[in-house]
Amino acid sequence: MGQNASCEATPPFPQKLSGYIQGGISIAGAGGMSYCSRVSGGVPSAFGKAGSAEVSTRPAVGDGGLQNMGKETALERWTVAKSAELYGIRDWGAGFFRISEDGEVLVSPHEDAPECAASLTEIVKGVQARGMDLPVLLRFSDILDAQVARLNESFRKAIKEYGYKGKYRGVFPIKVNQQEQVIKEITEFGSRYHHGLEAGSKAELMIAMTFMQDSEAVIVCNGYKDEEFIDLALYGVKMGLRVVIVIEIPAELELILARADKLEVRPLIGVRARLSTRCGGHWNESGGDRSVFGLNSSQIVDVVDMLRGKDLLDCLQLLHYHLGSQIPNIRDIRAGLQEACRYYVDLVREGAAMGMLDIGGGLAVDYDGSSTNYSCSRNYGLREYCADVVEQIQHICDEASVEHPTIISESGRATVAYYSVLVFDILDVSRFHTHGIPEELPKDSGIQLRNLIEVGKTLNSKNLQECYHDAMYYREDLRTAFLSGEISLRERALGEQIFWSLMKVISAESVGKKYVPEEIKGLDDILADIYYANFSVFQSLPDSWAIDQLFPIMPIHRLKEQPTEKAILSDITCDCDGKIDKFIDLHDEKKSLPVHVLRDGERYMLGAFIVGAYQETLGDLHNLLGDTNVVSIRIGKGGAVKFTKELEGDSVADVLSYVEYDTKDMLERFRELAERAVEEDRISAGDRRRIVEAYRRGMRGYTYYEAEE
Ligand SMILES: Cc1ncc(COP(=O)(O)O)c(C=O)c1O
Repeated sequence: MGQNASCEATPPFPQKLSGYIQGGISIAGAGGMSYCSRVSGGVPSAFGKAGSAEVSTRPAVGDGGLQNMGKETALERWTVAKSAELYGIRDWGAGFFRISEDGEVLVSPHEDAPECAASLTEIVKGVQARGMDLPVLLRFSDILDAQVARLNESFRKAIKEYGYKGKYRGVFPIKVNQQEQVIKEITEFGSRYHHGLEAGSKAELMIAMTFMQDSEAVIVCNGYKDEEFIDLALYGVKMGLRVVIVIEIPAELELILARADKLEVRPLIGVRARLSTRCGGHWNESGGDRSVFGLNSSQIVDVVDMLRGKDLLDCLQLLHYHLGSQIPNIRDIRAGLQEACRYYVDLVREGAAMGMLDIGGGLAVDYDGSSTNYSCSRNYGLREYCADVVEQIQHICDEASVEHPTIISESGRATVAYYSVLVFDILDVSRFHTHGIPEELPKDSGIQLRNLIEVGKTLNSKNLQECYHDAMYYREDLRTAFLSGEISLRERALGEQIFWSLMKVISAESVGKKYVPEEIKGLDDILADIYYANFSVFQSLPDSWAIDQLFPIMPIHRLKEQPTEKAILSDITCDCDGKIDKFIDLHDEKKSLPVHVLRDGERYMLGAFIVGAYQETLGDLHNLLGDTNVVSIRIGKGGAVKFTKELEGDSVADVLSYVEYDTKDMLERFRELAERAVEEDRISAGDRRRIVEAYRRGMRGYTYYEAEE
C-alpha cells in the first residue's frame, strides 16, 4: 500500500504512564508516536474496546487527552442533527439523502413523498444477503427519473413564465455514463419529454439509434466523424430520426455533403461555434479562442457560403457550443449564451433554416453544498439556470426579430450524478498514536532529548506557538544528530515520540481559542488516522485522483454517535495516490474526515455520493482492481426496496483477461509448478489438490478484499 501502516513497538525506555502537570497542562502516557495498525481475521477489526476506552476514559492529556476529555462531554450531547451539519448532507443531498433518527443515511428519491425513504445500511444488508459484497455501487433509478423530470419541468416552467415561443429538448450526452442500464432508463424516463441523446463517437451513435427511436427527440452527433459515422447518422435521418450532424472541423462539411448526395438524403446539419467566452472551473479548456473544438467565426461563414452555393442552407438547422463541464459561475453561463445568441441570430439573417440552439453541457452539481462559484459547487440553482437561459435567448432573438429556437441542452452531470452511491467498508486503521511524554529520560540522554523535554515542561496555553517552533527546531536538531551518528536509533525514536506528543498537546490546547496560528491549525490534520478503505480510487473515483474533484463522503450509519476521530482514506491499491485526503467543507476543503472508532466484529461503512457522472467509464484497472458489484434499486411506497438489477463485479479471471492473460494457460502453468513440488517431495498430492483448488477459487473471486465467511 502507498501508505503502509508501521506498527512500531512500544519503546523500551523506562516510561511512566502516570501523567504529570506542568505549566498548567497535564501530560500523561508513555512512549511515543506510531501509526498502529490493527486487523483481526477477515472482518474489519475494530478497535472496539481498546479504541473506545481511549476515547472516553483516558483521564489526562497524552494521546489526545485534552481532546478526549472534551469528547467525553460532547458524546452525551451528540445528535443526528449535528451529524447532518457536520457532513453537510442537507447542503449537497439535493433532497435525495438525509439521516434517519436511528443515525443511518436514508435515500428518498421522491420529492413529493419524503416518507418513501430507505436506509442505505438496510439496502447493503439486502445486497449482502443476496451474496454480493462490498464495495458496491448502488444505482437509484428513481433519482434518475426525478432528475430527468426536474430538468425538463424547470425548462417548461421558465418557458411558460417568460412566454417563450420555442420548446426545450434535452439530450443526454452518452459519454457521461454509457452503461446500458443508464441509457435505457434515461430514454424510458425521458420519453414523456422527448429527451434525446448526444453521441460523440460511432459506438455512442449506435447506442443512441438503438435505444432512442422517438422522432420528436433529437440525437446530436458531436466529435470527429469519418464516413461510417456520417453514413450511420444519414441512415438515421432516412429512417425518420432527428439525427443532427454537428460540424466540429471544417473538412467534415464536404464529406457530409458528398455522403448525403450519395445516399440521397437531405442531412440535418449543425455547426459547433468556438466561442471566445471562457468559463471558470476544471474544464474551461473546452471554450475560448484556443479551444480545439468547433469552428471560429470565419470558418462558420465559410460553411454558410458553401451551403448557400449548393442551395442547402435549409439543412443548417442547429448551432451548438459547449463552454465546459461543471461551470460554477452563472455569469459565465450568461456570457457564453449572449455570444452564442449573436451567432444564432446572424445565421438566421444569413438565410440558414436554423431552429435549434444547443447550449451544450456545463450545468453544474453542488458537490460540496456551498452554493458558491468554487469549482466543486455552483452559485446558481436549476430554476435560475433555466430562467436565465430562456430569458437571454428570448431577449436577443426578440431584439433581432428572430423566431425563438428550440433550446437543447446537453446536461449530463446534472442528470446522472446523484444516481449512484458507492458503499465501501473500512478494513483497517493506522492510528496516529502517541505514547505521551516520559517523566524521566534514560540516563546520559543527549541535549536534543533534554531540550524536547524542556519544551514540554514550559508548555502552557499561552505559549503554544513558541513551543511549537521550539519543538520543530529541536526535532531538526535531533535528526541532524542522528545523521551524523551522534545519537542512536533508539534516542531518535524517543525524540520523535516526544515531539509528536507535544504536537498533540499543542493541537488539543488550541481548540476553542480565538486566534490559532495557521501552522497549529493544520496540526489536527497531520495527526489524522489512516482508514484503509476497501475500494480503488482509480476504479471508482478517478476524478478525485486525476483532477482533485471532491465528492461528499460520509459514514452511512452510527450517525447518532459523535465521530470522534479524524482520518484520511487510503484505498487498497499499492499507489501513494490511492488515497483521499481532501473532503468537502462548506467554507473550504477539509484535510481529514470525521469518523467513528471501529468496533470489534462490526463493519464500518462509508458512502461516496454523487458519483454517477463520468466515474464509471473513466475508472481504470490500476493494480487489477476491477469493476465493483452494481445493484440497481427502486424505492416504492413506504420505502419498500426493490432490487431490480444486479451486475456482478469483475472476477480476478475477468481482469486478467482484460490485460491479455489466458487464464486456462495460467492454471496449466500453475499446475505444473505444483506437480514439480510433488515430485520434489515439497508437498503431497493432497496438498497439490488443495493448492490448485485455492488458485482456481482465487480466479473466480472478487478483485476486492473479501471478508471471510
Ligand atoms: C460536447 C459536450 N456536451 C456535453 C457535455 C456534458 O457536460 P456536463 O456533464 O457538464 O453536462 C460535454 C462534457 O464535457 C461535452 O463535451
